[in-house]
Amino acid sequence: MKHLINICDMTPEQTRHVLAVAHELRDARAAGNEPILSGKTLAMYFEKPSLRTRVSFEQGMYELGGRVIVLGQGEVGLGQRESVADFTRVMEGMVQGIMARVYDHAMLEQMAAVSGVPVINALSDLSHPCQALADAMTMQDEFGEDLSGRTVAFIGDGNNVARSLAAICEKLGVTFIHSGPANFQLETDAPVERIGDPQAAVKNADAIYADTFVSMGQEDEKAARLKVFEPYQVNEQLLAAAPDHAIVLHCLPAYRGIEITDAVMDGPSSRVFPQAHNRLHAQKGLLAVLMGGL
Ligand code: CP
Repeated sequence: MKHLINICDMTPEQTRHVLAVAHELRDARAAGNEPILSGKTLAMYFEKPSLRTRVSFEQGMYELGGRVIVLGQGEVGLGQRESVADFTRVMEGMVQGIMARVYDHAMLEQMAAVSGVPVINALSDLSHPCQALADAMTMQDEFGEDLSGRTVAFIGDGNNVARSLAAICEKLGVTFIHSGPANFQLETDAPVERIGDPQAAVKNADAIYADTFVSMGQEDEKAARLKVFEPYQVNEQLLAAAPDHAIVLHCLPAYRGIEITDAVMDGPSSRVFPQAHNRLHAQKGLLAVLMGGL
């Protein structure tokens, strides 16, 4: 495992290994993690805003003894001031890892194709594999290490987060259900059970997943999307159709009152904030494997 561009590039064993390292590092965190990334630097390139990804990678590198350099699109001019390949060839001689949040997924593939150091997808138009690792870790916290036989119902847009979640579900033996409008179906090679009625979709769900109806870059479509996605709000009525033990996940940021209600997000079934905290732990596991040789 050299890079993390998509979850589907990982084997089930690699997926489980990263998650196991993540759990170990979290268990050992209170006593202080070993500085396994001492002397190592992760370059972090952002074309889009971020809270969780930015903070969790920077804090994760710090806790493992490494450091980060944060680069913005304006200063780098990636793909404009210089090519993606030239950027990567320069970076690989200076830092030990590259993390990038980009609009165009092809940029990540171009980086990985020439990079001698690990390249990590921190969200693209196609996928969000780091989020999926934290999602799986949160489900393991609830249901145990072996998630096989469990069911996740993703309610809403068949987007990049859904695609990576479907992929990690396949690796871990979890059934993935998508419930969304006909024109917003998830395109993926991973197995997907498609159930249009959200109430029917959550009937056997162990986890219900909500996400924004309007992703970054789709602001022009906001009014139309809010109308078509209205029946797919994760609210108390929907939760009542799920098993009592079902937990609720959301990758955040949440638009409260739109795709998820306050009552659900702040209610007893919500694992949204532990899930956000697991971004730190899951990515520490990933960094330890890719940059620390664990
Ligand atoms: N979920 C997620 O990736 O959050 P940020 O956009 O804040 O990084």
